[in-house]
Amino acid sequence: MLLPYIKQSLDFSMTMSQLLTYVAISVFCVLTASSLDTFTAAVYEHAVILPNATLTAVSRQEALALMNQNLDLLEGAIISAAKQGAHIIVTPEDGIYGWNFNRESIYPYLEDIPNPQVNWIPCNHPNRFGHTPLQERLSCLAKENSIYIVANIGDKKPCNSSDPQCPSDGRYQYNTDVVFDSQGKLVARYHKQNLFMGEDQFNKPTESEVVTFDTPFGRFGMFTCFDILFHDPAVTLVEDFHVDTIVFPTAWMNVLPHLSAIEFHSAWAMGMGVNFLASNIHYPPKKMTGSGIYAPDSPRAFHYDMKTQEGKLLLSQLDSHPYHPVLVNWTAYASGIEALSTGSQEFKSIVFFDEFTFLELRGVAGNYTVCQNDLCCHLSYKMSEKRSDEVYALGAFDGLHTVEGTYHLQICTLLKCKTMGLHTCGDSVETASTRFDMFSLSGTFGTQYVFPEVLLSEIQLAPGEFQVSSDGCLFSLKPLSGPVLTVTLFGRLYEKDQASNISSDLMAQTLRAHPYIPDNVSQINSDNILKERRRAHYFCKRLIVPTGRRQ
Ligand SMILES: *[C@@H]1O[C@H](CO)[C@@H](O)[C@H](O)[C@H]1NC(C)=O
Ligand SMILES: *[C@@H]1O[C@H](CO)[C@@H](O)[C@H](O)[C@H]1NC(C)=O
Ligand SMILES: *[C@@H]1O[C@H](CO)[C@@H](O)[C@H](O)[C@H]1NC(C)=O
Ligand SMILES: *[C@@H]1O[C@H](CO)[C@@H](O)[C@H](O)[C@H]1NC(C)=O
Ligand SMILES: *[C@@H]1O[C@H](CO)[C@@H](O)[C@H](O)[C@H]1NC(C)=O
Repeated sequence: MLLPYIKQSLDFSMTMSQLLTYVAISVFCVLTASSLDTFTAAVYEHAVILPNATLTAVSRQEALALMNQNLDLLEGAIISAAKQGAHIIVTPEDGIYGWNFNRESIYPYLEDIPNPQVNWIPCNHPNRFGHTPLQERLSCLAKENSIYIVANIGDKKPCNSSDPQCPSDGRYQYNTDVVFDSQGKLVARYHKQNLFMGEDQFNKPTESEVVTFDTPFGRFGMFTCFDILFHDPAVTLVEDFHVDTIVFPTAWMNVLPHLSAIEFHSAWAMGMGVNFLASNIHYPPKKMTGSGIYAPDSPRAFHYDMKTQEGKLLLSQLDSHPYHPVLVNWTAYASGIEALSTGSQEFKSIVFFDEFTFLELRGVAGNYTVCQNDLCCHLSYKMSEKRSDEVYALGAFDGLHTVEGTYHLQICTLLKCKTMGLHTCGDSVETASTRFDMFSLSGTFGTQYVFPEVLLSEIQLAPGEFQVSSDGCLFSLKPLSGPVLTVTLFGRLYEKDQASNISSDLMAQTLRAHPYIPDNVSQINSDNILKERRRAHYFCKRLIVPTGRRQ
């Protein structure tokens, strides 16, 4: 009871004797209660209740009614998590107001969220910063259940012509993560930096924000959905701010073979050496499912469900300060291998708009090398049996990806082709029958940012079944527990993202001009453009703008 009072004095006016008392009491608390070696994390995959699709703003009351419906469901998950001993719970991006918005129609859903430095417990002082019922409810849930809560809501900040960047409607609007500690205090606020294509209702902050918060169970950092593909703030949080755990609200649309949620998020945790708490929306019609609690060495809990309409609470224990692996040299192993000549059997096929160079795996076991530009990929493998009804291929890609975001990739991938036709290598496929007794995959990467993925049939992970060696080899520890969809080293060359001058606006226009055409439209055509259109599906949230005039 004493400590909160003294903390407040610290923030306002502090004398030397108060400081000493504060330090003394802090030390006392550290010795008796805090600083946990392990903690229990919870993530909630939330089946969000969506607003009506309309381009005109509803009243603030209607907006609040919808958000409170979602909060009723989140409250159930928060109480349940707290009862099971969770110290922190993460809820998804867009989990409180959904989507279907433009700039005007999101406005009644927004609240002014102050800088956490104001030292505010909204549950105790609900009117201190205007009308903020969402923040009050989240704060009270955190306080009453003694649990940290991470939520995603919208922030609004008025501006005027004294600021040349000020939008014409006189305000900034931000996609925002907030964190309330177990006393209900607002301790962190993060404005999403890398908005996904079509997220026009929000502004991006003028400077990338790097937001951390310290807890008795380690240092936390946060970012949102599409941010995970980029250097700032994601990599900076880990490398320069040494966070132990990332909290990650997301509204992620799965894209196979390399960007399904559980697959990529668990790979990022392993590649960066941090705990990662990913909370996704549950909305199967848009392929939104896939949440998890990932430690650097292995996933601890994950959920993928395209069948039901239900939300799902996951809990798991984690180390507060997970082991940070020694720096992997992602080229050492591969650059020591002598490549066999395989030129004439190579073929090209498209993986999510990128043209990979492939080689078919013809035997039940073998050693293969395939190269593209600066990247050579090496694979050794042994299948349990070589089936006559499935084709696997080894692929390499080194280039700039330019659809739905511009980012340079280097990828080595073993994958199952969708059909027996080689032109379907890289198409989305969810089931397989071929088991692998062993694999070892490496590449001559020009980056230290490589994310190791192993995805099994029916979108399952393989915890504890593989490892990465310090010389950059991804290898199986035992025969895999299920048939393989893909084994991939997904590398990012952040410094090459600016190499091309293709603007994202231009890309967005291109995509609008070539809308989604469903899978069954026509026979597969070797023309890449047609093939790209046929497979236009998306990861991360895509704004579904109702038909009608915009702005
Ligand atoms: C959506 O529309 C229904 C029927 O018109 C209405 O009852 C409901 O209040 C609306 N919801 C929101 C959030 O505006
Ligand atoms: C414009 O905004 C600045 C900064 O927010 C504020 O100090 C100033 O009073 C505003 N001016 C007007 C005319 O509203
Ligand atoms: C990684 O390994 C390669 C090949 O052995 C070596 O040339 C390179 O210097 C190593 N890189 C680092 C950063 O140690
Ligand atoms: C693959 O290479 C390893 C040594 O690098 C060798 O032991 C093995 O026999 C090779 N496998 C095949 C099928 O050639
Ligand atoms: C991109 O634009 C910059 C100037 O805006 C120019 O200096 C550079 O050469 C361009 N790069 C390419 C690859 O066209």
